[in-house]
Amino acid sequence: MVLEAIKYTRGTLQILDQLQLPHTTHYDHVYSSTDAWHAIKEMRTRGAPAIAIVAALGLAVELENMKISDIAEEVKIFILEKLEYLVTSRPTAVNLADAARKLKRRTEEAAREEGASGRSVREGYVRAAEKMLVDDVSDNENIGRFGAEWIVENTEAGRKGPVSMLTHCNTGSLATAGYGTALGVIRSLHANGNLKHAFCSETRPYNQGSRLTAYELVHDKIPATLVTDSMAAALLRLKGASENIAGIVVGADRVAANGDTANKIGTYSLAILAKHHGVKFLVAAPRTTIDLETKTGNDIVIEERPGKEVALIKGPRFDGVSLDLNVVETISIAANGIDIWNPAFDVTPAELIDGIITEVGVVEKDSDGVFRLDKVF
Ligand code: MRU
Repeated sequence: MVLEAIKYTRGTLQILDQLQLPHTTHYDHVYSSTDAWHAIKEMRTRGAPAIAIVAALGLAVELENMKISDIAEEVKIFILEKLEYLVTSRPTAVNLADAARKLKRRTEEAAREEGASGRSVREGYVRAAEKMLVDDVSDNENIGRFGAEWIVENTEAGRKGPVSMLTHCNTGSLATAGYGTALGVIRSLHANGNLKHAFCSETRPYNQGSRLTAYELVHDKIPATLVTDSMAAALLRLKGASENIAGIVVGADRVAANGDTANKIGTYSLAILAKHHGVKFLVAAPRTTIDLETKTGNDIVIEERPGKEVALIKGPRFDGVSLDLNVVETISIAANGIDIWNPAFDVTPAELIDGIITEVGVVEKDSDGVFRLDKVF
């Protein structure tokens, strides 16, 4: 069975509800841009590339199923307004804003074409949105290949034999149109016999690591172990040599022009640990995640989420022996009344990053220690 977070055919869109994973596989229908906005906001769908694609396709499905005006200009205005609305769902991942910008441009072009009609503008939009779904999978496969090759060739562990890698959050098939970015690198290492073991961190507070990455690793039968976020330092210290750990590979929500990278909260701590333990720290992301307009990480807006995501944990009832999937319980794991800070992301400074793996190759710093990310465009 192929893991599919997004199921799309023209006029229909379904998303795998990631709030119910790993225990329940349930697809939600997305009929409109409003449905897409809510699915993104509530994190039923998540991960920078997946968010952008669900937003783009949510609107495509709405357009396909509505009575379309004959007037090109009217359809154009409708699309542009919906795109503006969609980008308000979550602020940090740039892929959504990037997709909206490209779809806006395509829509404006379509409306300017000789003999343009409402239908032709819609067709221009829908095709462009569908292309994003297809391109994301091939981009991820290339990221996986380039990243795996780089690790084998450029790390001491890689030169010794099959390597182990630690990853954070979920960057796999569930976070993208398929295959994944950082998890794609691990998949590619595994496929080529170059992976000894994968370690995934729990990723508090939302547990994308224990719920989603662990699920994908088990699904693909990749040898893997789950650790809590607080175990990462001990893992590198105690198992770095015996497990031949080459480094840490993570995804990104926004890479600024200087290489500073916003990613899931906890990424920054892992980068510091990698530096201390002398292993590589790699960011894997498609070029749609690179934002040359944002000069440094200080300019990245970090989403803050409700404190209840830290204080409450949801899951099927456990009677000490087995899980009852029909009864989902929410329990509190924090003292009532305590104030909670819940930033969804942090920024890792470029100086802690050894390479940025894109679909066109791995970008390393120049001799002056600077990432030249404009070169990949
Ligand atoms: O809050 P999330 O689950 O959407 O955060 C996801 C991440 O931080 C991922 O690492 C990032 O979006 C890259 S997914 C390929």
